[in-house]
Amino acid sequence: MNASLPEQESFWLFGYGSLIWNPSVPHTERIPAQLQDFSRRFWQGSHDHRGLPHAPGRVVTLVEDAGSVCAGMAFRVPASAATEVLEQLDHREKNGYSRHRHWLHTRSGRRLDALVYIAEPDNFAWLGPGPAAEVAQQIATSTGPSGSNREYLERLATALRELGADDPHVFELEALLRSR
Ligand code: BEZ
Repeated sequence: MNASLPEQESFWLFGYGSLIWNPSVPHTERIPAQLQDFSRRFWQGSHDHRGLPHAPGRVVTLVEDAGSVCAGMAFRVPASAATEVLEQLDHREKNGYSRHRHWLHTRSGRRLDALVYIAEPDNFAWLGPGPAAEVAQQIATSTGPSGSNREYLERLATALRELGADDPHVFELEALLRSR
């Protein structure tokens, strides 16, 4: 799916990866939020940020997972920045992400209609699951123009702890990297 969005209108954007700890998009509001029935997974290859074309790193995407909840951060992008932010995020589509629309839930009970970028299995950079030790090894040894893959994982794990989020997949990989 590539969800359409009226440009030049404000919108909610769900951050579940680097946006949580590096909110690089202009925003007027930021609220912890949850996306139900999805799990965060290090299943997307990164050839342009945390890895290289011949040695991709791993970054997160979302996979459907009934009953699960993915904790992240919702950002309110103002109309004045909408076009610029969409261009910036669509640039990531080159690495396999596409636009989706989903309802988010906040702690205070609000429902937010949000734009969510998801990399799906049919994209060229998809890596999919693997044994945790091998995934951790790939993250530990990959680096790209945006920095090391290890830093991406560590900053995500720290940000999730600060949010009070339980994410066994991320925390298991963090523990494996620490034990290396
Ligand atoms: C994120 O950091 O949450 C993110 C943003 C755009 C695409 C994928 C993930």
